[in-house]
Amino acid sequence: MVISTGISAMSFFTPHRYISLDTLAQHHGIDPAKFSRGIGQEKIAMPGHDEDVVTLAAEAAKPIIDQFGADGIDTILFATETGIDQSKSAGIYVQRLLGLPSNLRNVELKQACYSATAALQMACAHVARKPDRKVLVIASDIARYDLDSSGEATQGASAVAMLVTANPTLLEIGTVSGLFTEDIMDFWRPNHRRTPLVDGKYSALRYLGALVESWRDYQANGGLPYDGFAQFCYHLPFSRMGEKAHLRLAKEAKAEADMQAALPGMIYNRQVGNSYTASMYLAILSTLENSESDLAGKSLGLFSYGSGATGEFFDAKVVEGYQDHLFAPRHRKILEDRTALSYDEYVALWHARNGEDGTDTPMPDEAKGRYRLASIDDNKRIYVDRTA
Ligand code: CAA
Repeated sequence: MVISTGISAMSFFTPHRYISLDTLAQHHGIDPAKFSRGIGQEKIAMPGHDEDVVTLAAEAAKPIIDQFGADGIDTILFATETGIDQSKSAGIYVQRLLGLPSNLRNVELKQACYSATAALQMACAHVARKPDRKVLVIASDIARYDLDSSGEATQGASAVAMLVTANPTLLEIGTVSGLFTEDIMDFWRPNHRRTPLVDGKYSALRYLGALVESWRDYQANGGLPYDGFAQFCYHLPFSRMGEKAHLRLAKEAKAEADMQAALPGMIYNRQVGNSYTASMYLAILSTLENSESDLAGKSLGLFSYGSGATGEFFDAKVVEGYQDHLFAPRHRKILEDRTALSYDEYVALWHARNGEDGTDTPMPDEAKGRYRLASIDDNKRIYVDRTA
């Protein structure tokens, strides 16, 4: 018997400051419509010096633990391509910050923007085998490109936390997947670099190629037909990429593209920017929290892409009563309560301190949330809970 598995609660967090793409366009002397329409983005979320993938992740996961408890969680899977350590999982810091018990496994996963999907699939397989257990999957990333580069407009940051269980109360993850991996250099970040190298146009081309190949594999494995989906959520490096993906998929399926079946998923991403492996999961939240119709019982088509490159097309069925397992008012407040940065303030934040020379590096107190990176002392990251 196949046990239903999937997501029982989902929550996101993004820093409280952003730079408007109009400000960026003005600084570079570019027509603002290039970013608002050509790229399809409005704001870039900018973490403070004392925020990183750990603090974003802890902020995202805390409401889930507060509301649904930690009972049964035996695994934390932390997905990121903004790793803060080549050895230790960022999830171990989060485990302590959240006050979770010691008797659980904790590991970090990486494959560019795709790894949260690998984490989710592994978590579903685990809870299918042990239905009394739960997995906390966290996708957390800070997308940062060189100043004045073509990727600069597609920066951003957020974390999405998911509680994965048997008999889920939010999204049942389908058992059919379409998979595609090819060895390409479209976007990568060698260990010695803080920002990625990217062949922008090629990456967009290969994203669409991976979508088509993943869809074909999904169909070959007995997936739902194109018209079986109420909404589609795509990996969103920028929302225009999602529009292009939606048109390309409809063409492949020989169907008429209805942009309304993809736009709700783009609302949050336009406000936050790319958040790499968290991005498609932010699109799912955006869909569930912004669709005008009730999605209970409906299926979502999901496309996850990580440069390098791996793609996966899969599906999720929305569970009756799903609205009770979201944090929509909190999410809207997080987005509303943000402040705009000037160009100079943005550049100052962009040059995040990292204590690379081993000297003690206290961080300015900038984060508005509960958790912060207080300092990097002797190459050790010191995280604190303000309420402790
Ligand atoms: N008004 C309206 N539209 C305008 C405009 C204006 N005044 N000026 C330009 N545009 C349009 C262009 O026509 C173009 O539209 P099309 O794509 O339909 O041709 C669009 O704005 C973008 O402009 P450019 O073609 O000049 O492209 P660019 O030099 O700004 O670079 C980019 C765009 C290559 C995506 C760049 O932002 C980039 O390198 N981003 C990082 C890489 C990336 O996100 N790749 C996506 C796939 S890989 C992936 O998904 C993994 C990941 O997360 C990184």
